[in-house]
Amino acid sequence: MAESLFVPQTADRKRIYDEITPQIAALVEGEIDLTANLANITAVLKEAFGFFWVGFYVVKENQLVLSAFQGTIACTRIDFDRGVCGHCYTTKEIIIVPNVEEFPGHIACSSASKSEIVLPVFDKDGAVTMVLDVDSDRLDDFSEIDAKGLGKIVRIIEKLI
Ligand code: SME
Repeated sequence: MAESLFVPQTADRKRIYDEITPQIAALVEGEIDLTANLANITAVLKEAFGFFWVGFYVVKENQLVLSAFQGTIACTRIDFDRGVCGHCYTTKEIIIVPNVEEFPGHIACSSASKSEIVLPVFDKDGAVTMVLDVDSDRLDDFSEIDAKGLGKIVRIIEKLI
């Protein structure tokens, strides 16, 4: 496991994703505990981008249940038909919400959260086994660059499942 993280001091998010993705792969290598790996991945994303909230909701007992995260306290359980996370779970698609106030059914864990991206994480059978939720305190903070960059990190997680 790598013990230090190098983050380029740049506003170029693609460059940051390109730098941190191999480091994440090295970080999780050799560690079989999924929660430990998810926890470190949220720490990398928080440190690299300063996102307001980064975390995982894992499918358990027909709900999405809060797992490893970095940020302020958050709601612990989300029904599959609720919120941006539930929408991601049911559609199996990456959801980008430029303004959370305009997303019907958005669950406001914090009033500071203004925009959000949620990605599905698939198991080997193609079922969504968890979602990665990233929140920003700025409006319209996520783009295709984040969808692609976070998508590559999700592929690393899927190899661990
Ligand atoms: N906003 C999410 C809920 C999780 S928190 O943002 C951490 C949603 O609408 O699903």
